Amino acid sequence: MNDILSAPFLTEMVRTTANMYAHGWDERNGGNISWMLDESELSPYLDVNAVVRDLPTGFEAPSLDGRYFLVTGTGKYFKNVAHDPAKNLGLLRLADGGRNARLLWGLTDGGKVTSEFPAHMMSHAARLAVDPLSRVVLHCHPSNLLAMTYVHDLDERAFTRTLWQMCTECIMVFPDGVNVLPWMLCGTNEIGQATAEKMKTARLVVWAQHGIYGAGRDLDETFGLIETAEKAAEIYLKIAHLPRLATITDDQLRQIADHLRLIPRDGWLD
Ligand code: 13P
Ligand code: ZN
Repeated sequence: MNDILSAPFLTEMVRTTANMYAHGWDERNGGNISWMLDESELSPYLDVNAVVRDLPTGFEAPSLDGRYFLVTGTGKYFKNVAHDPAKNLGLLRLADGGRNARLLWGLTDGGKVTSEFPAHMMSHAARLAVDPLSRVVLHCHPSNLLAMTYVHDLDERAFTRTLWQMCTECIMVFPDGVNVLPWMLCGTNEIGQATAEKMKTARLVVWAQHGIYGAGRDLDETFGLIETAEKAAEIYLKIAHLPRLATITDDQLRQIADHLRLIPRDGWLD
């Protein structure tokens, strides 16, 4: 058996949590990640039949039964993941229709998976139904997107159009736009279900006055989605109080989409 700490999925997870912390998106224990892995990726590093303990999930996710996930633990600080991956991360397999998670590695201090596990698992199920190659769900608290939810209309078409207008790259990176949930109590099945519903039509879901969820095929893509939206929100906050002398027009947004053969969210361009 190879050393699991040298496994590509662990080194990449460590790199991503450190990078997110460095971006200021994950103060204290803020943020959480779940990454769906294949058994073939794990088996060189781990006996997948050796269960450490069971963690009841409190929800059902039949379509994810038997799937493996690397997740961050609840209350764990992203800044500490690199120092002690085994304490701050957990590797598990969903069982019993999603009602239980069988811990196979990690959470060595007796810890539990992220409190946002319902939102993560329900989002995975929703995204996999749209894109069978979807693997990552990432949640964090980027300052500018969060700030924007205090001063901008939360209508998701209006919110997306503002972001698209802030940097030329935005519509290239998230033509599907950004969906928005009003403030809701976090860490519950209810916000999980609401997030998953929003994930059916976009890979980015803003939680007003809280943060953002992103979903993608790998960590880089998902990180990049959030990074691009957060950059646009930063530009917006820099200019929102100034007279607007220019913008990216709908015609220009359409030119970008046509040039790259992208389909912008239906009806979100004038
Ligand atoms: P966890 O520490 O449980 O992952 O929660 C952090 C968070 O961002 C809650 O929304
Ligand atoms: Zn959060």
